[in-house]
Amino acid sequence: MTKIAKLTLDDGRTIDLPVIEGSEHEKAIDITKLRAQTGYVTLDSGYMNTGACTSKITFLDGENGILRYRGYDIAELCEKSSFLEVSYLLIYGELPTADEFKAFRAKIRNHSLIHEDMKNFFNNYPGQTHPMAILSSMVCSLSAYYPGLLESDQSPEDRDATITRILSKVRVLAAFAYKRSIGQAFVYPKNSLNYVANFLNMMFEVPAEDYEIDPVAQRAMELLLILHADHEQNCSTSTVRLVGSSKANLFASISSGICALWGPLHGGANQEVLEMLEDIHKDGGDYKKFLDMAKDKNNPFKLMGFGHRVYKNFDPRAKIIKKACDDLLAKWGINDPLLEIAKGLEEAALKDPYFVERKLYPNVDFYSGIIYRAMGIPTNMFTVMFAIGRLPGWIAQWKEMVEDPAMKIGRPRQIYTGETSRTYSPIERRG
Ligand code: CMC
Repeated sequence: MTKIAKLTLDDGRTIDLPVIEGSEHEKAIDITKLRAQTGYVTLDSGYMNTGACTSKITFLDGENGILRYRGYDIAELCEKSSFLEVSYLLIYGELPTADEFKAFRAKIRNHSLIHEDMKNFFNNYPGQTHPMAILSSMVCSLSAYYPGLLESDQSPEDRDATITRILSKVRVLAAFAYKRSIGQAFVYPKNSLNYVANFLNMMFEVPAEDYEIDPVAQRAMELLLILHADHEQNCSTSTVRLVGSSKANLFASISSGICALWGPLHGGANQEVLEMLEDIHKDGGDYKKFLDMAKDKNNPFKLMGFGHRVYKNFDPRAKIIKKACDDLLAKWGINDPLLEIAKGLEEAALKDPYFVERKLYPNVDFYSGIIYRAMGIPTNMFTVMFAIGRLPGWIAQWKEMVEDPAMKIGRPRQIYTGETSRTYSPIERRG
């Protein structure tokens, strides 16, 4: 039996709205026909309560701290899978068979090079350019090299070719952006290496020295990328969907997602966390002072890496990352004072009524930077790492949307609160 919700309007009319239920029993009131039926729209700034789509990709239960990709718990994927396998799972819906995975990996390997001309782009950025600016521009620039793949109504084969290219080349673009920022020669992809090892090699190999990939670092990177791979309708993913809904090509849609991710309230928070921990350290380590600043409503300072729109109990990603961070630093014998500050800060915040009442917990960005730092990844590359991790999620969400025959261009409404109609007066009469 179809479930309905009843809505009574201020003019006394009552209408029935269909209630839809997801596979995990999430309920929603379907307002698709609300305006046509009543002339009303809904207002929900920040989309706090608005489901923008139905999706089969990721399930997130913020109250219970659950995160599953295509039904698989992220903790299990982190333990047993690889980033490339998780990418396949997200994009194509199922874990690959051995043959499917072999073919997928071969395609990724075949497409790892970027056009030689693109190197000139990197060379012309000023030295201090933030690598996120370079990455977003370069991803969009890929569209210049594949004009044949830009048709909005692509065949499934062409869509796959675009997906494979972007997944493979993003590592090269990210590593080249880094090499450019430190003034070192670019290192080309080495296709005998796996996806993550190849990226680490492009980041850290220098012509004068042998670079050996540390398997511990490689595993830690796999884990971080898996944990970032999708997070349903967050700011950057919604951006990718919105841009893609105009039938803009995949490179352009992903590039806009990268820009959305850059913001400090979203993926840019990982860089901000580390800078905050460094500031506390430089200031003598008194994290309580910073906690007080975060609580002071007259101070714009926020405790970076704390709080989440959806998680109101704990962020399951943060739990896994905290443990990985402890294990990794112990394995490498690193004693990072920033880790001690982070732990002290977390402990104090979790006891503080301000944070308890508002259900503010450490999020994915709180400890990830300490791992990246231990690996030698510079702070301004942290958000780039997030972007590499989130790429398969963005692709999966874009693909799900464009393959839906009912796809519509995204176009929210507004409630206009400006001036009502008035008449133009020439400048000389305005005083
Ligand atoms: N430090 C201090 N106060 C905070 C913080 C924080 N980090 N986060 C939220 N609050 C307060 C906020 O001031 C508000 O207080 P009040 O009710 O008195 O006005 C209350 O908690 C609710 O916060 P909100 O800003 O309305 O919540 P939101 O859902 O709109 O924002 C957030 C979520 C993640 C943007 C926010 O918690 C924040 O800015 N955190 C710091 C930045 C950060 O770590 N971002 C990474 C998010 S996880 C990675 C990702 O997926 O993007």
